[in-house]
Amino acid sequence: MRALITSKAGRRTLRPIVQLIDQRVERQVRRVIEESGRAEVTQQELNRLRNRQRPLELFFDGTGRGASRLPSAPHLNRTISELTEVTGAGQEAVERTVAQAFRLLIALEALGVGRIAGGTMNIVGKLSAVPLLDPPNDEFLEIGTLYGMFSAGMSRMMQRAGRTPELTIVDPLAGSQLQPGATMGVDASGTPVNEAAVRTNLSLVGADARIRQGFSEDPEVRAEISDREYGVIIVDGDHSAAGVAADLEWAEQIAAPGGVVVLDDFGHPKWQGIKEAFDKHMAGRTRFRFLGQVAHSGYLKAEG
Ligand SMILES: C[S@@+](CC[C@H](N)C(=O)[O-])C[C@H]1O[C@@H](n2cnc3c(N)ncnc32)[C@H](O)[C@@H]1O
Repeated sequence: MRALITSKAGRRTLRPIVQLIDQRVERQVRRVIEESGRAEVTQQELNRLRNRQRPLELFFDGTGRGASRLPSAPHLNRTISELTEVTGAGQEAVERTVAQAFRLLIALEALGVGRIAGGTMNIVGKLSAVPLLDPPNDEFLEIGTLYGMFSAGMSRMMQRAGRTPELTIVDPLAGSQLQPGATMGVDASGTPVNEAAVRTNLSLVGADARIRQGFSEDPEVRAEISDREYGVIIVDGDHSAAGVAADLEWAEQIAAPGGVVVLDDFGHPKWQGIKEAFDKHMAGRTRFRFLGQVAHSGYLKAEG
């Protein structure tokens, strides 16, 4: 065999085959070079796109507020269908309100101090549901405000619905968020929780508020704030079962007929005391009728 390959005649016979093999190898190498060249370009292109995208992500990511503000389409769609069910409003009105609420949330956190607490769909759900539920009067009470930014947003959403909201806020405004039984640590925004922050945020939407620094269960605070019937009450202060039970009991007394009560973090796995207090409350004598849930908020309506 060896003799055949090395002999003159043998080499002559095998030449066309060797040439064919050479051509094939050359073609393969050329293809690999071409492909690896293209891969390099693609990787470069990807890196360039990533670099350009990063500053855009800062508008929406969780830096400085703890939660990303970029909900997925299925989350948005679920919120829209929950809102339609809870408020009875038409699809078009719900979609418009959700879009406006979402843009407002991004704008407030971009311009304000601190942040709005909670997940994006929960906040958008509350900002949308309250005007869509058409509360019986414009008196709005928020128990637990943190930076007052949610009240500011609610004020703007109500104005968009042609209403003239009057805000009352109760919160210890103690420098940081207080939660019995939970360690809250330094806020993701790095901003201290105080009245100045709340006023700054309210001023962004041209709103003012009666701000009562203190705890909602304090009899003095209650006496002062129980001077009117509220069309909307947001229960978002002490998240323990005892705290929520006390706020619901107070809300029974101060909600206007037809008033809307929003129970924040309802069904949230981290705050199980809220659902526990709600279940106990609803099993007793109550003016409240449960309308349903949107994201992590429960909605109640006070009967006459
Ligand atoms: C979850 S944050 C409120 C978030 C705010 N509603 C928002 O949407 O951004 C809870 C707030 O309630 C306050 N808080 C705790 N216990 C309270 C109580 N007994 N009465 C009123 N506010 C309370 C906390 O200090 C904190 O500022």
